[in-house]
Amino acid sequence: MKRITLLGIVIATIFTFLFTSCNQINKAKMEKSKGITRSSFGTAGGKEVFLYTLINSKGTEVKITNFGGIVTSWISADKNGKNSSIVLGYDSLSGYLATHPYFGAIVGRYGNRIAKGKFLIDSIEYTLAINNGPNHLHGGVVGFDKAVWEPTVENDSVPSLLLSYLSKDGEEGYPGNLNVDVHYTLTDEDELKIEYSATTDKKTVVNLTNHSYFNLTGDVTNTILDHELQIDADHFTAVDSTLIPTGEITPVKGTPYDFTQPTKVGLRIDSVKGGYDHNYVFNKIDASLTKVASVSEQKSGRVLEVFTTEPGVQFYTGNFLDGTLKTSDGKAIQQHAALCLETQHFPDSPNEPTFPTTLLLPGQKFHSITVYKLSVIK
Ligand code: BGC
Repeated sequence: MKRITLLGIVIATIFTFLFTSCNQINKAKMEKSKGITRSSFGTAGGKEVFLYTLINSKGTEVKITNFGGIVTSWISADKNGKNSSIVLGYDSLSGYLATHPYFGAIVGRYGNRIAKGKFLIDSIEYTLAINNGPNHLHGGVVGFDKAVWEPTVENDSVPSLLLSYLSKDGEEGYPGNLNVDVHYTLTDEDELKIEYSATTDKKTVVNLTNHSYFNLTGDVTNTILDHELQIDADHFTAVDSTLIPTGEITPVKGTPYDFTQPTKVGLRIDSVKGGYDHNYVFNKIDASLTKVASVSEQKSGRVLEVFTTEPGVQFYTGNFLDGTLKTSDGKAIQQHAALCLETQHFPDSPNEPTFPTTLLLPGQKFHSITVYKLSVIK
């Protein structure tokens, strides 16, 4: 009798184990299936915010929150099949509610700097918040990176998230009610496509970008100094000591700014005071969606290609990261832990008549596309 009971217990235990394992495997499979899912991410400004997980047919996973339109992680396999995130970000909202340097965020109404926070439209002077030395940076004190965006999930052939925001007339000093849409799509080719559009009811200035910090090793304890970068730009905009363009479009040839051929980021960085934080002027002459840059990292085999309709990119090597901020699992985010390729119009364009215009008029539609495409060389 005792033996039969014991046998029963053993069989029951085996069945329970098999059942639980199968369930876990199925759950993992389900979690990895292509599409878009939503989970709660906390509250900001009294509004509930969400974290969206976009998964493509390869199992690549991009997480985006409607707080600041922030890309919080982009998990993909390296050449050895090891999964890790190629962007810096936090697991929880608290990191983003605290001060952080625009990790993964949508930046606007005007990404980059406007000298002394002032510009003229039709002889009317507008004054913006000063939040970077003597200048205005990335839309001001409460820019688009801190807004709670209205989300719409689209889950047709590829997972896609539309984020909408009304930036009110006078917000951070900018004129005009600006209706902004940012459309994130993760394709089966491992492309994160970001499509921006905006309309206004008064003449205003617009420059929208995404501020993702990339580290292709997937490990923030490595710097990006060994990443190889190529930018299709023979020129960059020279800047003064406060990083405001002097107006001069300077050739990169023969300078440490030359990335026309694939070059290690760290090769000449010591000759650039503070590190790279410069706007490159693409060679392309029109607003077609064109490949403009690529980054590769040997150990992981990962390659990131950048395509954009924009005329420039701010190449920033995380110079102001200093180990103070920590990742969600407690690792210090050191200087040069990541690099940014912020596709955009040139800094301070509202005050530089020779730069491509950033003026948006009522009745016009601002439209811009940037695609970050990830691949692996085995
Ligand atoms: C700027 C840097 C700044 C960083 C974080 C970049 O776009 O050019 O100067 O430190 O953003 O705010």
